[in-house]
Amino acid sequence: MVRHDTKSWVVGSFLAASIILVPAPTVAADLANGKEVYAVRCLKCHAEDGKGSPRMVQMLQVEIPDFTSKRVQDKSDQELFQVINKGKGKMPGFQWSMDEKDREDVLAYVRTLNTR
Ligand code: HEC
Repeated sequence: MVRHDTKSWVVGSFLAASIILVPAPTVAADLANGKEVYAVRCLKCHAEDGKGSPRMVQMLQVEIPDFTSKRVQDKSDQELFQVINKGKGKMPGFQWSMDEKDREDVLAYVRTLNTR
C-alpha cells in the first residue's frame, strides 16, 4: 500500500514537472531564429559580423554602430530594443513589421556578436 502510494507520487510529480518544464524553451530566446531574422532584416546594413556594411555606410552616408564594440554592448536591452522597435536616424523601426518574439530573438543574437 505504502509502496503503491510512493510510486504514484513519483509518477505524479514527474508529470507535474514536465508540465512546468515544457514551456521553458519557448520563453528563452531562440538564437537560431534570431540569426535567421538577422540575416533577412539586418545583415544588409549591419553586416554578417555586426561591424556594419561599408557599402551601406557609403550609400547612406551614415555611421553604422559596431555590434562587437563595448560602446554598443554596454547599452541596456531596453535602449537597443527601442531602436529595433522605433528605428533611429536612417534605420527603420521594426515594431510593426516583425512580431515581438522575432525582435527579442534578434536582440539576443546581436548580444552574441559581442567580442569585447
Ligand atoms: C537600412 C539599414 C539598416 C537596417 C536594415 C537595420 N539597421 Fe540597425 N542601424 C542602422 C543605422 C544607420 C543605425 C545608427 C542609427 C543612428 O544612431 O543614427 C542603426 C542602429 C542600430 C542599433 C542601435 C545601436 C546603438 O549603438 O544604439 C541597433 C540595436 C540596431 N541598429 C539593430 C538592428 C537590427 C536588430 C536590425 C534588423 C532587425 C537592424 N538594425 C536593421 C541601419 C540599419
